[in-house]
Amino acid sequence: MAAAARTIRLASRLAPAPRPLFASGATASAARRAAFSVSARQLRSEVIKETEIPVSVYSPDSKGVASGNSDHFTIPVRPVPKAPEHASEESDEIKPLDDRVYNQMPRTLQKMSVKGKVIIITGGARGLGNHMARACAEAGAKAIAIFDANQELGDEAAAELHQKSGLPVSFFKVDVRDGNAINVAVQNVVDLYGAPDVLVNSAGIADSNIKAETYDPAMFRRLIDINLTGSFLMAQAVGRAMMDAGKPGSIILVASMSGSIVNYPQEQSCYNASKAGVIQFGKSLAAEWAKYNIRVNCISPGYMDTALNRVPALDAQKKIWKSLTPQERLGAVDDLNGLCVFLASDASGFMTGSNVIIDGGYTLY
Ligand SMILES: NC(=O)c1ccc[n+]([C@@H]2O[C@H](COP(=O)([O-])OP(=O)(O)OC[C@H]3O[C@@H](n4cnc5c(N)ncnc54)[C@H](O)[C@@H]3O)[C@@H](O)[C@H]2O)c1
Repeated sequence: MAAAARTIRLASRLAPAPRPLFASGATASAARRAAFSVSARQLRSEVIKETEIPVSVYSPDSKGVASGNSDHFTIPVRPVPKAPEHASEESDEIKPLDDRVYNQMPRTLQKMSVKGKVIIITGGARGLGNHMARACAEAGAKAIAIFDANQELGDEAAAELHQKSGLPVSFFKVDVRDGNAINVAVQNVVDLYGAPDVLVNSAGIADSNIKAETYDPAMFRRLIDINLTGSFLMAQAVGRAMMDAGKPGSIILVASMSGSIVNYPQEQSCYNASKAGVIQFGKSLAAEWAKYNIRVNCISPGYMDTALNRVPALDAQKKIWKSLTPQERLGAVDDLNGLCVFLASDASGFMTGSNVIIDGGYTLY
């Protein structure tokens, strides 16, 4: 530290005193003109490439008490190393937020939790929905209900989430196209845990590499039914339960960047149309239900590394997707977690009708 301080003192002694930029008689407008007229030669000679940076740190923990609680040192400048590949936090551990930790958290972080909230997550048997369910468990949820059409995976996912978090977790084998089943299941959640505070609708399917001219209309209808009508049926049932209980709520619809852009090179008009519908539905619902204190927002992911995309037929296209993504990677399966918790929490209380794109920068190009 002493050597570092010496370096700074020496540097300041060797540095020539700064010359005034303008003679005292120069007019203000001449000064402004001169300030902005820089020749290309000057610019080249002004390329800044320091090899070290002088730093002053002022803090009560500082060792230099004599110099007013300040430390002075220099840090060397080295070329920036290439960013490491993103490692997904696919840890098996699920640590719920306990009361002791919650009570010690600053108010801002408390608001960013989902402490005490009852959360329904569709498509929670696997993939993005499953990881958002885990994140909600860690962020303080009171209870979690998974709705999914896959009996085996859904049951396993609920059992695992309960075992690892200790929280009440239930699984309802519900197809999001089935309005009656959804209504009964939501009522059951109310009976078990109280009215839901949050809905995360992640259930969805994707058809891709299908040309519009040969698209089977029955397949087209099926996809719209799951992705768009399913979002409506779930939002309607959960919204009614929130209204009946006079509870504020947050509804999060998982849409896709494909609702705002057209993907390349694969043809998938139906999927894109279904997600554009989800986004516009979410905005309309947000306006309608603001009077009930129910917020509605969409999460629109870019290309994510989930089972939905882990098919050999997509390998070649994945290379193109990555090359068109500034971060040069697909999203990890837990990359939506933070955004989901934020939108579910009271920290996003003034946010409704938003469509948040989370895509590694894909839609920038
Ligand atoms: N993976 C991506 O690249 C990506 C990108 C943008 C948007 N999305 C959207 O994110 C959501 C989740 O995708 P994922 O990658 O986790 O997919 P996934 O296939 O891994 O998981 C989807 C889950 O939804 C369930 N499901 C499907 N149809 C259902 C139905 N009719 N009723 C109830 N449950 C049903 C499945 O059983 C599964 O558990 C989907 O809405 C998808 O469109 C995914």
